[in-house]
Amino acid sequence: MRFSIILGYSLISLSAASHLHARNSLSSCDEATLNTTVGAYTTQEGDTMASISSTVNRGMCDIARLNRMADALLPLTTGEALIIPPETCQPDNSTCLITAHPNGTYSDCVKGGPHTYYTLKGDTIRYVALKLNITIDSLLATAQGPDKDADTVLDEGDFLKIPLCSPSHCSFHPYTFTYGTYKDIAEKSGSTVGQLMAMNPTYNHSDVARGEGPVIAVVRDCHTVGSNVTVIS
Ligand SMILES: *[C@@H]1O[C@H](CO)[C@@H](O)[C@H](O)[C@H]1NC(C)=O
Ligand SMILES: *[C@@H]1O[C@H](CO)[C@@H](O)[C@H](O)[C@H]1NC(C)=O
Ligand SMILES: *[C@@H]1O[C@H](CO)[C@@H](O)[C@H](O)[C@H]1NC(C)=O
Ligand SMILES: *[C@@H]1O[C@H](CO)[C@@H](O)[C@H](O)[C@H]1NC(C)=O
Ligand SMILES: *[C@@H]1O[C@H](CO)[C@@H](O)[C@H](O)[C@H]1NC(C)=O
Ligand SMILES: *[C@@H]1O[C@H](CO)[C@@H](O)[C@H](O)[C@H]1NC(C)=O
Repeated sequence: MRFSIILGYSLISLSAASHLHARNSLSSCDEATLNTTVGAYTTQEGDTMASISSTVNRGMCDIARLNRMADALLPLTTGEALIIPPETCQPDNSTCLITAHPNGTYSDCVKGGPHTYYTLKGDTIRYVALKLNITIDSLLATAQGPDKDADTVLDEGDFLKIPLCSPSHCSFHPYTFTYGTYKDIAEKSGSTVGQLMAMNPTYNHSDVARGEGPVIAVVRDCHTVGSNVTVIS
């Protein structure tokens, strides 16, 4: 199903949305009673995506995807203009979150590249490693700077050196980002959220005119080459 929302001068297509999550209708939810109004919300000091989601009664991930956030948990800045999506029978508070799996396996190195990661607000070594799908120890071993604790919040805007798998390869493509989060893109492109962040350090979802998909560089099909792969720092 395709539907569009006219917001001022801009047109935002939500056709991609239906491919991102299953939309089984719940018997207890009457679609006719849903609030289908698209709203606007300006962030206040102290707001988080969880608090906004409760205030406006919409799923955190639905808000993050409509606003093309790199990561729903990237701290908000005060005064950001967010678009509030229509209510759905299955508000999504979870599928966009980058979470560690109990039995998750992590690599020692990033395939392809890039070799540096530019820290974002709220980053810790633990979270950057998770976003790059590598072990905390492997990132600690190459990350530059005096801070060697995995849970200390890092300064924003510092470069961390990323361990690379050698030989390995990715391809790079410009991509018009109209709906979703980096996790959605990474899952489809065979890369990681951390690589997308490292490739697009200046991306700011609230900086882009509504309806105009910003172009980001997407890293695709990352893989090691051959069987003798070593970690380079
Ligand atoms: C419906 O949602 C919009 C956008 O979030 C909001 O402004 C409006 O107050 C809501 N209406 C009702 C009746 O809850
Ligand atoms: C999850 O989404 C619902 C919207 O139905 C919202 O009311 C609730 O507060 C959200 N929960 C969290 C933890 O954000
Ligand atoms: C994790 O691994 C343990 C031991 O192999 C297994 O018992 C458990 O079911 C796994 N948990 C998940 C969520 O896969
Ligand atoms: C993370 O790396 C492990 C081990 O290399 C791999 O099995 C898994 O598919 C990767 N997950 C993601 C989300 O890239
Ligand atoms: C993103 O852009 C908005 C609007 O231009 C600005 O207010 C905000 O500070 C920027 N955020 C970051 C993290 O640079
Ligand atoms: C594997 O690669 C490393 C680094 O390039 C090299 O030193 C080593 O000799 C190689 N081992 C084999 C078995 O080819």
